[in-house]
Amino acid sequence: MPEFSSKVAFVTGAGGGMGYQIACDLIHQGARVLMFDIKDKPAQIPGVADQSIYIQGDLTDDSAVADAVAQANSAFSGIDLLANVAGALWFDRDRSALDIDLDVWDQVMAINLKSMVHTSRHTVASMRSRGGGAMVHFSSTQCLRGDSAPQDAYQAAKAGVVAFSKSLAIQLAADNIRSNVIYPGPSESPMQDRWKENPEGKVATANAIPLGRVGTVQDMSNACLFLLSDKASFITGTELLVDGGLQARP
Ligand SMILES: NC(=O)c1ccc[n+]([C@@H]2O[C@H](COP(=O)([O-])OP(=O)(O)OC[C@H]3O[C@@H](n4cnc5c(N)ncnc54)[C@H](O)[C@@H]3O)[C@@H](O)[C@H]2O)c1
Repeated sequence: MPEFSSKVAFVTGAGGGMGYQIACDLIHQGARVLMFDIKDKPAQIPGVADQSIYIQGDLTDDSAVADAVAQANSAFSGIDLLANVAGALWFDRDRSALDIDLDVWDQVMAINLKSMVHTSRHTVASMRSRGGGAMVHFSSTQCLRGDSAPQDAYQAAKAGVVAFSKSLAIQLAADNIRSNVIYPGPSESPMQDRWKENPEGKVATANAIPLGRVGTVQDMSNACLFLLSDKASFITGTELLVDGGLQARP
């Protein structure tokens, strides 16, 4: 039996790099998947026709998230797993908190943190009614240190994700719902399209990583599916670094 054949998953950012890979891998492992992204539906989605629903919408809109969850509850009879993968890093507009446009600050916080509040609130009831569940929220190694080229809104939002996840883990443990975080290191995905124009930047990043390469969407999906799976049934309230050893460097 495929590992996730009895499961229903809600994956955000599913039109993009890591989220798309996670959704596809869950489908290959037998899950039914609600895919949500502000982007157009990807050209290829694996699985049989009624195995996935793709909704194009904005996660910062609480009612759009509520509607999406209602569709999954109706089509799939509930949700067991939540992968909060969507995020946005605005290299051009996100900067020091001392001079950032405060509307940009609010938007970055809404996309990277508050959206996860929306998805979590709307999926908990279903997980409870199904006897448990698992959530994985995507943070970033960026929130573990300061930066001479700051992206303070993104960094603060990603630190907030960790606190939010830990709190949910404690609040929901009695319901058999687990909540964990992945800290991706620098990884090749549409978010890092800047490397296409600056391949030297990618090489320099890879050279700083002990394992000698940047991450892939498959690396992140492998870690995410592990934390969503029953193999991680005693793991909650923690964070998994998937960064090729970058944070372990002296
Ligand atoms: N790629 C990296 O180097 C890296 C490093 C650390 C952390 N991360 C984090 O990993 C996660 C996945 O990143 P990725 O590399 O796959 O990026 P990506 O840009 O390829 O995918 C992110 C997806 O989120 C979607 N999204 C953004 N705002 C949205 C909104 N308001 N409503 C709905 N969807 C929205 C985008 O359309 C996009 O498809 C993100 O949370 C990101 O912050 C990425």
